[in-house]
Amino acid sequence: MKRVDDFRLQLGKDELVPIMIGGMGVDISTAALALEAARLGGVGHISDAMVHDVSDRRFDTSFVKDKTRLYKYNIANSDKTDIKFDLGHLAEATRLHVGKTMEAKRGSGMVFVNCMEKLTMNGPRETLKVRLESSLDAGIDGITLSAGLHLGSFALMEGHARFRDAKLGIIVSSVRALQLFLRKNAKLNRLPDYIVVEGPLAGGHLGFGLDWAQYDLQTIITEIVQYLQKEELNIPIIAAGGIFTGSDAVSFLENGSAGVQVATRFTVTEECGLPAKVKQEYFKASEPDIIVNTISPTGYPMRMLANTPAIGDGIRPGCESYGYLLDGNGNCSYIDAYNREVAAHPDQKKIVVMDKTCLCTHMRNFNCWTCGQTTYRLKDTTRKLADGSYQILTAEHVFRDYQFSVDNQIALPE
Ligand SMILES: Cc1cc2nc3c(=O)[nH]c(=O)nc-3n(C[C@H](O)[C@H](O)[C@H](O)COP(=O)(O)O)c2cc1C
Repeated sequence: MKRVDDFRLQLGKDELVPIMIGGMGVDISTAALALEAARLGGVGHISDAMVHDVSDRRFDTSFVKDKTRLYKYNIANSDKTDIKFDLGHLAEATRLHVGKTMEAKRGSGMVFVNCMEKLTMNGPRETLKVRLESSLDAGIDGITLSAGLHLGSFALMEGHARFRDAKLGIIVSSVRALQLFLRKNAKLNRLPDYIVVEGPLAGGHLGFGLDWAQYDLQTIITEIVQYLQKEELNIPIIAAGGIFTGSDAVSFLENGSAGVQVATRFTVTEECGLPAKVKQEYFKASEPDIIVNTISPTGYPMRMLANTPAIGDGIRPGCESYGYLLDGNGNCSYIDAYNREVAAHPDQKKIVVMDKTCLCTHMRNFNCWTCGQTTYRLKDTTRKLADGSYQILTAEHVFRDYQFSVDNQIALPE
């Protein structure tokens, strides 16, 4: 019977344990978590989502405070067009987050950064270019382009000295999205080094509609593999979404995938950035507690726990401090929803907004409990302690369980 460790992921000249820990913003996939994956010979991801705030927490910088001070005058104003990001600060925060992580890297694996295109930051092109190039400047091993089609992102990095040597990958959820990407980038003569195919069971934002349950990851992968064969393209496929045991992973590795990207099982590890209390919420969840809704202003459905505090909260939009989801014209659908509720209930002190959430503020405060569909199985991966709580795992334990387990077994911690 095969184990994940019987396979290797070949990325160019590099040979890796075929396990990637997926990016989880905002700082849920911490540098510590990504570094463990790299130390163990796989690939870890940090995320550059809300990088100013991450830098402030990690390195005691004051990017968010400085931005809030600058735009304080606008807090009560519903027009957010003025709220721009200082590109110098963005570059500095990214270089700090990425650079310090890379300095600490040990082992034969790699650390990539997850870059969400939907963080349009009231200046989509210029901010994305700075994010991508600053990560390359700071020595990141690779960039995974996520949440958005990223049709122009390769071109934004084309002039960078590391454009052809860093590993560049994309996340898609359909053969159609892949075709669009490849067509759009054909003239750059630069293929992605890997393609993460993310199915409907993943955490975070989904590349599917509310009919997600009708899709099947292996079916999508088979379509993509057939398409690549037809086009005579040899690009490693990384399967993602709902891969819970080493045996699940082996099944994908035997059927067209060169690696797997996993995340949910690492949300309950010491190295994961979620607060301890939230990790216990993930353990406690049962299947009906896991929902997919449309409260994210990105326009993508998102999976989360039903008791997530972000649902129905009517906090004032926090764009003067954050503003990561402002589109190129200073709009965000949460601002509209919030203003609508304020106008409808002028005397109400506490506003309730059901259809959208202030995702920046809530992700910043770990109040949007996004999770994968398999979260309800996490309780089976650990022991219940005398006080009724669940034992937190180490990333090494979970990584090695994926790498070496057979027969759908899950190793419990010591
Ligand atoms: C808590 C959480 C947050 C996530 N955030 C992001 C993100 O910021 N960007 C992204 O591309 N994917 C994100 N994902 C998706 C993962 O990177 C990964 O592809 C997917 O969840 C793998 O499926 P699994 O969780 O069933 O193992 C997130 C997943 C989880 C569980």
